[in-house]
Amino acid sequence: MKKVNLFLKTVLKKILPDKKSERELKSLAKKVLLIAKREAKKYKADAMIVGSITRNTWLPEKKEFDIFILFPKELTINELEEYGLKIGKEIVRKMKGSFTLKYAQHPYLSAKINDVEVDIVPCYKIKDTTELKSAVDRTPFHVKYLQKHLKKTQANEVRLLKKFLKSHNLYGADAKVQGFSGYLCELLIIKYKSFLNLLKAAVKWKLQEIIDLEGFYKKSEYSELKRIFRGQPLIVIDPTDKNRNVAAALSIENYFKFKKICKMFLENPCEETFFGKVNYMTDFEFSRTKLKRGTEILVICFKPPEVSPDILWPQLRKFAERIKSILEEKKYEFKVYGKDVYTDEKEIALVLIELEVFSLPNIQKIIGPPVFDERNSKAFLEAHKTPLIGPYVENGRWVVEIERKFKTAKEKIIDSLNKPVEILKAKGIPSYIADALAKGFKVMDSSEIEKLLKERKDVGIFFHSYFNKEKIV
Ligand code: UTP
Ligand code: MN
Ligand code: MN
Repeated sequence: MKKVNLFLKTVLKKILPDKKSERELKSLAKKVLLIAKREAKKYKADAMIVGSITRNTWLPEKKEFDIFILFPKELTINELEEYGLKIGKEIVRKMKGSFTLKYAQHPYLSAKINDVEVDIVPCYKIKDTTELKSAVDRTPFHVKYLQKHLKKTQANEVRLLKKFLKSHNLYGADAKVQGFSGYLCELLIIKYKSFLNLLKAAVKWKLQEIIDLEGFYKKSEYSELKRIFRGQPLIVIDPTDKNRNVAAALSIENYFKFKKICKMFLENPCEETFFGKVNYMTDFEFSRTKLKRGTEILVICFKPPEVSPDILWPQLRKFAERIKSILEEKKYEFKVYGKDVYTDEKEIALVLIELEVFSLPNIQKIIGPPVFDERNSKAFLEAHKTPLIGPYVENGRWVVEIERKFKTAKEKIIDSLNKPVEILKAKGIPSYIADALAKGFKVMDSSEIEKLLKERKDVGIFFHSYFNKEKIV
């Protein structure tokens, strides 16, 4: 046997559930399904098990399965949500579990029963996906499609793919990861038959590669498809709904990262290329890196709001965008070199800002209109009655020199964020972030960052990935 097949065999041994825990998981699923069906009946609804447990493609490290409650499509979305949660809570009560609320297109309940997570999601029972009322309504059709098309022997190929992606932080279509969903993994294995074949094909993918398993579209329609799914680097048409790209959540960065790790693994199939390596930056490496780059680094640190990660991460990214645009407003003259965000979703949320221009002199030159522009000249001189120096004329324009209001980017950030919550929101800071900032925040400079890196390895991993962007081609 070739080296790579031998290697994959050893990986598989590690990622297959043992028989006992498989039996336990499946019997728990059956039990929960029975209760769900009984409860659902009260609302003329039905229940079914969906997701990876129905096709033996779950990873044992993720002890989870999914139950969908299918409601008549006459119900309003509010009724659907309400009854869905009620049924979920009843299941939790009967099974002596606990629960948290999560959000997809609408809220659903995620139960914890023993040490297993059970997602209990309401959806509409529809005859085919043209009647779609919410995104999750497709899920029962996924179950049917995969039952028919994913061969039993391919289940482990899916597991290999999921593990490979997970090791490189590419598994999951959520806002945090922006990678490959479980369903996408399954479709890719149907298309390419095996994990290795997929990798070989992926290294040759062109941007906006189209994978249309059911042949819904003619080749002549491909350019139109690329236009419809513009900005999406991989197009995998959902075999149960030709209007949907299953890979819609995959970010462009992650598309290239995937191609790169495929290439690396094929060239050298080993532990390190399959599982990846977790690198983190120490406080010492940070200060050395900073010195070498000659930039200034600030970190805005606060306690994250208690919202679902699918809301938290996009808001955090948007917040970082806003900070950059505030610093780069013309009158302040700071310049941001790069930025990134991190949160552990519990204790800390961080915005890292690297600055090309961090500190500026005490004086600031304000260049006014040409002196022959009478109207604007008058207004300019009105507005600058007591400058430090001037007004004088330079190159035919009015000029004044004034005392600069914000001499460092840090001062500017603190001033901008130290405002009542309504003002923060009016400034375009996303609402949950604004609420969290109003409760307190810190702008850390190097010495505080070094202290943080000493205390927290997760922050070190975040810093490492920011400062060591990988070569992608
Ligand atoms: P899960 O996120 O639990 O995925 O969604 P999964 O397929 O069971 O894989 P793992 O092993 O738990 O990671 C359950 C089902 O909901 C639908 C899919 O049909 C999926 O199988 N779903 C979920 C989507 O269609 N889109 C999504 O973004 C998430
Ligand atoms: Mn699942
Ligand atoms: Mn789930």
